Amino acid sequence: MSTLLHIDSSPAGDHSVSRALTAEFVKNWKAANPDGTVVDRDLTHTPLVPLTGLWIGAAYTPEDKRSAEQKAELALSDTLVGELLSADEYVFGVPMYNFAVPGAFKLWIDQIARVGVTFAYVDGAPKGLLAGKKATFLIATGGEYGPGSPTVSYNFVEPYLRTVFGFLGVTDATFQTAGGAAALNYGADRAAFLAPQFEAIQAKFAPATV
Ligand SMILES: Cc1cc2nc3c(=O)[nH]c(=O)nc-3n(C[C@H](O)[C@H](O)[C@H](O)COP(=O)(O)O)c2cc1C
Repeated sequence: MSTLLHIDSSPAGDHSVSRALTAEFVKNWKAANPDGTVVDRDLTHTPLVPLTGLWIGAAYTPEDKRSAEQKAELALSDTLVGELLSADEYVFGVPMYNFAVPGAFKLWIDQIARVGVTFAYVDGAPKGLLAGKKATFLIATGGEYGPGSPTVSYNFVEPYLRTVFGFLGVTDATFQTAGGAAALNYGADRAAFLAPQFEAIQAKFAPATV
């Protein structure tokens, strides 16, 4: 039985494009995996805070030597890392904020990048410990940053996510970006804007043709 970890990070609720995309993905995933389990993690309702000195000291202290205070400091991180380790597959909804991922998403990454748990150093070289996991990133951007666009270098979302998740061992990563979402603020039709994005998601689940 397969488990999908579904993570959203947009605070825009029903107006969110990335949330609409992950909802479509989850719907299709459930149809393809009727016995599967979906775990939902909403980063806008997760008590994420910047890392503290106590947290960093605790993460670098061997588990059996941690104080009660250190264990308590790592409790949320342990939960979030547990969700990643238990799932086979991940889907992320990620808005572009100021050319990068939203703050909540970055705070989550800081919580789940754990030495000895999600990455390690083996013979001095980093080794990702989330090997074998499959990730789909569904990104929404107000502008357009596609290949060939003059603003392609402004996009720190996809390169950053590729680097971080690659470091953690997630090499099977797919990216889909709904660019130009700012048009929705100027009267563009939401259903028409989302339709090709939903089709691209549905195509990921279509049976392979020979
Ligand atoms: C605070 C904020 C910052 C944003 N920064 C950018 C940006 O740097 N570049 C861009 O193309 N769009 C930017 N946008 C537009 C969002 O990427 C766009 O509205 C997208 O649809 C957000 O995802 P969501 O609909 O899932 O919330 C920004 C929007 C907000 C609210």
